[in-house]
Amino acid sequence: NLDIVYPGGFGRSDFQAVSSVSFDIKAGEVYGLVGESGSGKTTIGRAIAGLTRASGGSLKVLDHEMVGFKEKAFSPIRRRIGFVFQDPAASFNPHLTIGECVAEPFAIHKRDMTAKDREKRVLELLDSVQLPSAYAARYPHELSGGQRQRASLARGLALDPELLVADEPTSALDVSVQAKVLELFVELQNRFDFAALFISHDLAVVDMLSDRIGVLFHGELLEEGTGEQVLGSPSNDYTKRLIASLPVPDPDEQAKRRGLARGLRTTAG
Ligand SMILES: Nc1ncnc2c1ncn2[C@@H]1O[C@H](COP(=O)(O)OP(=O)(O)OP(=O)(O)O)[C@@H](O)[C@H]1O
Ligand SMILES: [Mg+2]
Repeated sequence: NLDIVYPGGFGRSDFQAVSSVSFDIKAGEVYGLVGESGSGKTTIGRAIAGLTRASGGSLKVLDHEMVGFKEKAFSPIRRRIGFVFQDPAASFNPHLTIGECVAEPFAIHKRDMTAKDREKRVLELLDSVQLPSAYAARYPHELSGGQRQRASLARGLALDPELLVADEPTSALDVSVQAKVLELFVELQNRFDFAALFISHDLAVVDMLSDRIGVLFHGELLEEGTGEQVLGSPSNDYTKRLIASLPVPDPDEQAKRRGLARGLRTTAG
């Protein structure tokens, strides 16, 4: 029953971005959170990582209650959570090399690490996301979008997190590049077995890599289940519309879905 309210002030009223949302992510599980722009996905992801305050109900992250938490009490937990941001160009400091960007979590959470160990670990991380070690010396703008998002994944995994929050990690990418990064995500998740909250507005993407899916709409969780349940027998009209909007290669199937979408629009209107 998580609530997240953005406080108003200066004549603005409070805004409830998340209302009574309930779900859980088990160890090693990938949970896909899908929903249209503004539905509250990033708000939930940020609250899990302690970047936005959870205001009501309960949010337990790695057994730690986030509603009413003290910053100090959370800091040992923060290092157990990785975060991959929506926009890789904006999330890297342009004045740092890729190697330094990937090493940022060590500078914050592992200050006793020697420079040599840090360098070794950065190269391992770049290797695990299939980037050549020479890229460590490049600056963020010297990488392609897909390469930058790989580097961002490397940084998210730097501290070997138990939980990774990935906020639309591939949305800014071209479809073919997106597919490669998603493949890499699946491979890394199999290898390191971290739990993940994978946020996307694309139901097809979420279905490809999630164990379970939650559909968010205007801050409320409308539907939850395995991909098969959510895509196969959606209980909610909004989910049905989302599914109807997915591109499918089969033209007959596509026509059927379009008909379904039209039918739904007519009933809604
Ligand atoms: N700091 C803030 N103060 C007030 N309102 C905010 C703040 N951040 C987000 N919101 C509002 O909360 C709602 C949810 O925003 P959020 O960023 O979680 O959406 P989202 O589902 O991630 O959307 P997108 O797919 O576009 O990234 C939006 O209506 C947004 O305008
Ligand atoms: Mg968002």
